[in-house]
Amino acid sequence: MHKNFEQVLDPDTKEARLLAEIDLNRLPKHVAIIMDGNGRWAKLRNKPRLYGHREGAESVRAILDTFARLEIEAVTLYAFSTENWKRPQDEVSGLMEMLKYYIHKEIDEVHEHQICFRAIGDIDGLATDVQKEIRNAEQKTKDNIGTKLNVALNYGGRAEIVEACKGAIRDLERSGRSAESLTEKDIERHLFTRGLPEIDLMIRTSGELRVSNFLLWQIAYSEIYVTKTLFPDFRLKEILEAILEFQHRDRRYGGVKEAESSSG
Ligand code: IPE
Ligand code: IPE
Ligand code: MG
Repeated sequence: MHKNFEQVLDPDTKEARLLAEIDLNRLPKHVAIIMDGNGRWAKLRNKPRLYGHREGAESVRAILDTFARLEIEAVTLYAFSTENWKRPQDEVSGLMEMLKYYIHKEIDEVHEHQICFRAIGDIDGLATDVQKEIRNAEQKTKDNIGTKLNVALNYGGRAEIVEACKGAIRDLERSGRSAESLTEKDIERHLFTRGLPEIDLMIRTSGELRVSNFLLWQIAYSEIYVTKTLFPDFRLKEILEAILEFQHRDRRYGGVKEAESSSG
C-alpha cells in the first residue's frame, strides 16, 4: 500500500485494490475538474439545491486529501463560472456564503496538507468579504510546496484568453516587437495557469458532454474523462477510477504509436 494511504485505507477495500493498480510513476501532473451535478443530486433527494452544494464540498475534501497523498502537482477546480450569475439570487448568495465559510473552515487543514491555494478568474468581481477570505487563504498557503490548488471563481475561459491577449499585446508594445512575432508562449505567459504543468486530465462529473467555458486554451491535448456520477458522490473510489482510466489512454499528440512508427 502507498505509504501515505496506510493510515486511512483498509487494505481489504475496493479503494485499496484500485490504488494498487495505479502506476505511481505515471500520475497526471495536473488535473482539472468540472464539479457538476450538485443540483440533481439534491433534487433526487427532494432537497434544496444548496444541500447538494454542501455535499459537493465534502467531495472537494476527498479530492484534496487524495491528491495531496498521491502528491499530484496541481489541480484546478471549476467552482463558479461567469455564467453562473444567471442562477436564482438565493442560490448565488448561498453559494457565495458557503464559499466564504468553507475557505475559512478548511484553510488550516489545507495548509497542514502543504497545499498552495489560489483563486483564478475575475476575483475583483466577487463581493469584498469573499475576496478578503480568498486573499487571506492565498497569503497563508503561498509558500507551501505540496499540491497547487486553483479554484476557478467567476471564471470564464474566453475571458481568460482575451485578458492574456491584452497582456501579450502590452508586452509587444513595450518591447517594440511586431504582431507577426507573437507566439503561443507570449499568450501562455499571461494565463492563470502559467508556470503549472499542462493539464493531463480533465474530469467532468454528472455526464454532460461539454466544457462549459472552462480552460479552453489549456485543454488542447488533455484526456477528457466524463463520469455519470454526480459530484456529491465523486469520492475516493471514483477519483481513483478516473486516474486509472487516464493511465489506460493512449496519448498520441497527433503522432503515431511507437510500435507503429516504423514504416514496415
Ligand atoms: C455544479 O452543480 C456546481 C456549480 C455550478 C456551482 P450544479 O449546481 O450545476 O448541479 P446541476 O448541474 O444543476 O445538477
Ligand atoms: C459548469 O457547470 C460550471 C461549474 C461546474 C462551476 P454548469 O452546471 O454551470 O454548466 P452547464 O450549465 O451545464 O453548461
Ligand atoms: Mg450543472
